[in-house]
Amino acid sequence: MPEPRNISPDRVVLGLETSCDETAAAVVTGKREVLANVVLSQLDDHRPYGGVVPEIAARAHVEQLDGIIARAMNEAGLGFADLDAIAATAGPGLVGGVMVGLVTAKAIAAAARRPLIAVNHLEGHALSARLVAEVEFPFLCLLVSGGHCQLLVAEGVGRYRRLGSTIDDAVGEAFDKTAKLLGLGYPGGPALERAAAGGQACYDLPRPMLGRENCDFSFSGLKTAVRHLVEGLGPGAPSTRQVADVAASFQAAVGDVLADRCARAIAILQREHGGGSLVVAGGVAANATVRSRLEELATAHGIAMVAPPPALCTDNGAMIAWAGVERLALGLSDPLDVAARARWPLDAAAAGRIVSPRRGRSS
Ligand code: KG4
Ligand code: ZN
Repeated sequence: MPEPRNISPDRVVLGLETSCDETAAAVVTGKREVLANVVLSQLDDHRPYGGVVPEIAARAHVEQLDGIIARAMNEAGLGFADLDAIAATAGPGLVGGVMVGLVTAKAIAAAARRPLIAVNHLEGHALSARLVAEVEFPFLCLLVSGGHCQLLVAEGVGRYRRLGSTIDDAVGEAFDKTAKLLGLGYPGGPALERAAAGGQACYDLPRPMLGRENCDFSFSGLKTAVRHLVEGLGPGAPSTRQVADVAASFQAAVGDVLADRCARAIAILQREHGGGSLVVAGGVAANATVRSRLEELATAHGIAMVAPPPALCTDNGAMIAWAGVERLALGLSDPLDVAARARWPLDAAAAGRIVSPRRGRSS
């Protein structure tokens, strides 16, 4: 694959991600080579609580991060002196965890005398498409994760304009809550997708915001409709068959909503920029139904849809290292006293507005 323009191919960046429940480190080059990408999920630590517990997450990051970095450097066959920069998620996220990653990156940067790059986790997701494909700015980014659901125009590195976002739950959160309701366990998204594979989308569920003029989302009504549907299925229900059908119906409704909202945003992108591509990023972009629904939509509008492979959709260090590569190419780095931030909107215009805080993250 050709290297992106303006990015020096021999740059090597270590990226650390600790903003939620994955402890991750990766080494990525300007040639888009992922030399190492180590992700340790804390799922088992949080499963008994049915969600991420911030204190447990922070402690697990403290205990695991050094070993994860050592593994990544070892797999890459490099020492700290071979790095051109150290990038770490500096927010938004669970601030205890963010601090662990950021302070570790600062220590390595200081010891190796290399620049530190403080990465916005959301920018990491948004730019991950450029790690795997030739995607030019401006592009439309549908960011769908456990804490976020927004549509952005990415005009350049550090330049994002939000077209819409959720007015209540994030879409990953809707997957997680619906999965819990169906007894599918935690984390919900992948479990619900597996259940839906054996079902039919035969239940009529609402499609909130469909046809609205703006690019906003809403998922709490859909979640409530699933609850009423399941309660109405009668004693002993839901059966395995019904769980599969409800899951498939939920996924179909989510696909319709995301496609409708993206169609609005694509029209704006085409009007303002005469074209571009649709990037789908964040944990929910790992969902095959969502991907194929959005692929169809993009094809119908004559634009490309790019979604990273599933392992790069969910939280990982490679996307943070890549954001570091992109920022380094523009001469951007940060002072060693840069602060960890629980909240950090990607678009400057939204700074100060707080929307849908969840698991410590807000857009
Ligand atoms: O991006 P991510 O790893 O973390 C955040 O930044 O939030 O996204 C996690 C979210 C969770 O809500 C999870 O259930 C959802 O992404 N998710 C999925 C799938 N894999 C992860 N949702 C639907 N289908 C999937 N296959
Ligand atoms: Zn994420």
